[in-house]
Amino acid sequence: MTAKTVKCPKCKNEITVTGNPGEKTQIICPKCSSKGTFTFPQENSEPKTTTDSFTIEVRNLTKKYNNFKAVDDVSFSVKSGEIFGFLGPNGAGKTTTIKSMLGLIYANSGEIKINGFDIKKRSKDAKKYVGYLPEKVAFYDNLTALQNMYFYAEMKNIPKEECRPLIEEMGIGDAVNKKVGKFSKGMQQRLGMARALLGNPPILILDEPSGGLDPRGVALIRNKIREMKDKGSTVFVSSHILAEVQEVCDRVGIIDKGVLVAEDSVSKLSVKLNLKPKLIIELEKISEKIVESVKKVKGVEKVEAIGVMIHITCNQKAKSKIIISVEKAGGDIVNIQTKEPSLEEVFMRFTEG
Ligand SMILES: Nc1ncnc2c1ncn2[C@@H]1O[C@H](COP(=O)(O)OP(=O)(O)O)[C@@H](O)[C@H]1O
Ligand SMILES: [Mg+2]
Repeated sequence: MTAKTVKCPKCKNEITVTGNPGEKTQIICPKCSSKGTFTFPQENSEPKTTTDSFTIEVRNLTKKYNNFKAVDDVSFSVKSGEIFGFLGPNGAGKTTTIKSMLGLIYANSGEIKINGFDIKKRSKDAKKYVGYLPEKVAFYDNLTALQNMYFYAEMKNIPKEECRPLIEEMGIGDAVNKKVGKFSKGMQQRLGMARALLGNPPILILDEPSGGLDPRGVALIRNKIREMKDKGSTVFVSSHILAEVQEVCDRVGIIDKGVLVAEDSVSKLSVKLNLKPKLIIELEKISEKIVESVKKVKGVEKVEAIGVMIHITCNQKAKSKIIISVEKAGGDIVNIQTKEPSLEEVFMRFTEG
């Protein structure tokens, strides 16, 4: 038996009703005598999607293959509406983590919740809101792209009409009626992405989405990830290629040899590691005087003169002072470029050795 407080739609009077989950009850407002019915929600059937909730929660996940720990006590959470990059070299345990998250393999220990639902106990509810692109996409070879999509749309109870536009959006519109067996790896990957996007899922889990794609395909996926975020979806994306994730992610987790070695925003990780941005100044003409004046600026760590360019490693605050000092020393600035520390650097520092 549960109790719920409801508001009378007419006089806004608050009424407390009691009943069992799924039960329908008649209500008469004691204040204005309006009549109505109220159905008690099924227990835990509502997805928990408040903006500050964690959409994906992984706690102490361990997965062994025989005696080998492919994933070792990994914990992290992904907030609603966030793009989370899951990074690590080949064999680090990314796919094993993802398959455990979706209940596709059985983890030895740990707790995984998607949208508040435990993947082991409430697998169907947990996966209802997830679009998934596996590392190795698989389709029915003897069916066309469109027929394959219809098959999955039907399984997920999604209108057939969504299929063709998604295939077109992924840039393989010319091949809708072609058998998937004749598709290149890149085309299959694009179709895999189209399938993951069926039904506008609030949670997208993508395992190395750029695998086998040409640069145009990589850009297409990146834009799609951004678009899904704009629509409010949560995106979990794994990759071993750091540059492509850096641009789109709000936060990253770094996994190496089954162990999560870091979890933070790219900028905070850089601060922790004391990684400095680089300033590249292109000059009309370079001189020893200019280079020396830059070296004297407080916060400058390293100065390298390459042709008419000066590469300067410094802290954030030093940037404007450097520019002033270059001009004071008679430098004619043609171009200024700032290079923030790359994830590549962050990654190398965390996984070295
Ligand atoms: N089915 C399996 N049986 C035995 N070992 C496996 C199996 N799947 C993965 N592994 C091992 O687990 C480790 C992690 O693999 P995986 O999760 O695929 O890494 P990633 O996706 O980061 O490249 C690797 O050493 C891999 O060889
Ligand atoms: Mg993998």
